[in-house]
Amino acid sequence: MNITLIYFSQTGNTRRVAQAMAEVFRGAGHTTRLVSLKKASAQDVVACDLLGIGTPCFSSQAPTPIKTFLQNLPMLHKKRAFVFATSGGAPGRVLYDLAHLLQRKAVDVVGGVLVRGVSHHPAPCLYGRMPDRPNAEDLAHAQHFATAVMEHVAANRPGPIAVNRPDVLTPGRGFYDLVAAISTDAFLRRTLPEPNVDPALCTQCQWCVYECPTHTISLQPYPTLGDACIRCYRCLNGCPQHAFRADWRVSNLAVWAFYNTTFERWFGDLKPGEL
Ligand SMILES: Cc1cc2nc3c(=O)[nH]c(=O)nc-3n(C[C@H](O)[C@H](O)[C@H](O)COP(=O)(O)O)c2cc1C
Repeated sequence: MNITLIYFSQTGNTRRVAQAMAEVFRGAGHTTRLVSLKKASAQDVVACDLLGIGTPCFSSQAPTPIKTFLQNLPMLHKKRAFVFATSGGAPGRVLYDLAHLLQRKAVDVVGGVLVRGVSHHPAPCLYGRMPDRPNAEDLAHAQHFATAVMEHVAANRPGPIAVNRPDVLTPGRGFYDLVAAISTDAFLRRTLPEPNVDPALCTQCQWCVYECPTHTISLQPYPTLGDACIRCYRCLNGCPQHAFRADWRVSNLAVWAFYNTTFERWFGDLKPGEL
């Protein structure tokens, strides 16, 4: 088979999962392409026999850039696909978002897998959660899933793979699905602090302009965020000069009220014993 894995990844967790899965496919002799969302095109999708789409979870859902990519694909009748996501807390509807958007393009989604990944969300209550994840066990779990998908599709078995998370093909009705529904980009722009640049530190290198996943930063003459900011904090996390700041004094409390371990254990997807 020709297999293409398209992933959105800002801090490398989802990319590592994609790489682990690609190892399995290549080991079985399948031609496998790993494509970052930044470079992906509809042609990458059309040309493959099996498609994998991966993303981090942002605000309990799939981030806007990957959703936009999927929404803009042509119809893909009979194409088979799987989805994967990494999450540092409550995954909410991230897998369903991917599966549902693919299904709207007539894609046959055979399954999905969730893997934990260390969080670099700059809110102090979230930063560093799920340390050292994905670990070897997480990657082995992803590879086990990849093997099941590969065998299922290679054997031309119909329908989804036998073992699947319940929230891949059916929308969840939990607390974090509600949080995801409320957390539109416009809502996040109103409630989460805007990253601001310190002109004394900024060298106008334009790293943020090129790395912003919604292309909403322009130099005027210092980086200024536009209306399409999704509050992913890529600019703040990755700026080579550490020139961005955000004031979390109030918002940290609001974020903590929704994303705390007790709530996530009750309503989210933390297993007993997990952080
Ligand atoms: C802006 C932002 C929002 C996030 N929101 C959530 C969330 O709602 N639920 C969750 O489980 N993880 C959340 N995370 C954690 C990421 O999903 C997790 O760290 C992921 O593995 C990052 O993947 P990447 O390294 O491929 O970018 C968030 C991270 C960031 C930066």
